[in-house]
Amino acid sequence: MCGIIGYVGKKNNALDVIIEGLLRLEYRGYDSAGIAYVKDGLLNIEKEKGKIANLKEKLDFNDKSNLGIGHTRWATHGEPNYVNSHPHKVGKISIVHNGIIENYSELKEELIEKGYEFKSSTDTEVACALLDYIYSETNSIEQTIAIFREKARGAYALGIIVDDDYNHLYAVKKDSPLIIACGDNENYIASDVPAILKYTNKYIVLNDGEFAKISADKILVYDENADLRKVEVKEFKGDSNAVEKNGYDHFMLKEIYEQPEVIKATTLPYIEKGVDSLVDNMPDFSKYKKIDIVACGSAYHAGLVGKTLIEEFANVPVTVDIASEYRYKKLFLDEETLVIVVSQSGETADTLAALKIAKEHGSDTLGIINVVESSIARAAHQVLYTKAGAEIAVATTKAYSSQIALLSLIALNIANNKTMKQEEVLEVLKGIRALPTQMQSVLNEREHYKEIAEKIYDHDSIFFIGRDIDYALSMEGSLKLKEISYINSQAYAAGELKHGTISLIEEGTPVIALVTEEKIAEKTISNIKEVKARGAKVILVASENINISGDFYDELILVPDANKLIKPMLTVIPLQMLSYEIAKLRGCDIDKPKNLAKSVTVE
Ligand code: F6R
Repeated sequence: MCGIIGYVGKKNNALDVIIEGLLRLEYRGYDSAGIAYVKDGLLNIEKEKGKIANLKEKLDFNDKSNLGIGHTRWATHGEPNYVNSHPHKVGKISIVHNGIIENYSELKEELIEKGYEFKSSTDTEVACALLDYIYSETNSIEQTIAIFREKARGAYALGIIVDDDYNHLYAVKKDSPLIIACGDNENYIASDVPAILKYTNKYIVLNDGEFAKISADKILVYDENADLRKVEVKEFKGDSNAVEKNGYDHFMLKEIYEQPEVIKATTLPYIEKGVDSLVDNMPDFSKYKKIDIVACGSAYHAGLVGKTLIEEFANVPVTVDIASEYRYKKLFLDEETLVIVVSQSGETADTLAALKIAKEHGSDTLGIINVVESSIARAAHQVLYTKAGAEIAVATTKAYSSQIALLSLIALNIANNKTMKQEEVLEVLKGIRALPTQMQSVLNEREHYKEIAEKIYDHDSIFFIGRDIDYALSMEGSLKLKEISYINSQAYAAGELKHGTISLIEEGTPVIALVTEEKIAEKTISNIKEVKARGAKVILVASENINISGDFYDELILVPDANKLIKPMLTVIPLQMLSYEIAKLRGCDIDKPKNLAKSVTVE
């Protein structure tokens, strides 16, 4: 989703910092980019549809500038074109915006009556005009922002430049991410910290409803009541290397290969001292009779895997909901329900909204979050962090597997001494210690995945099937494939195909079939035989311990055997790798698939 960056400083470095920052925000997904910067006392605005490279061509990097704002836009209101791109300027106010102003239509009508004319289809131009109108009445930017917050409904992070004051950058935030970064004689605003890591790792979190007045050497933050508040400068401990490809062709491939390390880092605090660390370093789940897991996309798929594991091993009922649907269903929430929200970015608007609903109903909330200090991490009662590091590719891989790792540990924690004996728990912990090595062995089969990809990459439709936990994994495999390769793909519970979908199977249709559980293998294999008999090209992903004799598949990928609490993190790797290799053969923009955004900050 949209990325924001802003600079105010004595090094007159605005263009370099803003373009570098925008490039680092590219991963969020965008379809146009723009910049506003002050040069020789005048504000220049340049914007361009498409890649940042197009915008760069229009800029003269010799221009010295002490103040600027930049933006990557992921179109919501109006197509991606020049007029709709940010920054927008109306009267004396220029802004970049991430979020959606929900009441923009009524505000627009009011402003038209006051004589404003609009060129774009965006809610942002309306926000800009509203700020300009209030400023023309109050002549004070502080008052303007305070009144704006009362009038504008929705989510926004804004970077603001006022024509009367080219020594300050202003920022305001509500329900969309924005941080202030602190440099030496220069300060910045950004959608996230990695955007600015080349210059500083010191930052201040802006809370919802707050605004900031920032000069080269001073940062003033005003709270919701417009009172000046004390700021706490934090230090980002993440690795700035994470935003480099380090020799890999794509971030996605690099991140797939990082999984053994990520799983090690994520699980370590809960396994290093055996059962003690599993118990001591996790919340006490004993009071909960029921768990709701709420998330979007791949995080939702991780939740489905978590449900299978928690129900089977810990004997606690779990429901899993897509966050954008959560508010419409009848919720059975009480003090004995734990609501777990799962999110890599910690900024997904629907997940954040679901979390707020759960809190309103009086339930305890637990976030499984990757980005430290993100909005969801701050809003949840408790947080368990995945240690995936910065994930840059839009398609999640390492964050997804680390979410499963934590859900699996939660299952184990609840099961300990209840449904599982300590010896059994210890056995699983031993398995988790061995997991990174097993994952590496699955990763080492890249040539095999490439060979299979070559045989199926030119098909228009690919199916994934599996039962139980393999069905949940199939859903993730299918999502991964369609989002980066643009192949139409569907995941089906293996037993469900003959209730309609099997009519889509034709001679040569690729079906990726997952069989990792011994007790249901026979049934899934019968379903595979049904598609094979109708001409499907079957790629079988099976666990080593499964008896797979017979000629019901065309290609075979074996994954090492492991406890069911561990195996999903192995099984998903071939699915990620196949998607990657297929997308590569199809020449797709793997790290930045069309129309998608990394951090979905609108509902
Ligand atoms: C798919 C993908 C998305 C995200 C979803 C939730 O590869 O990355 O489906 O899983 O948008 O995002 P987070 O986890 O940031 O809440």
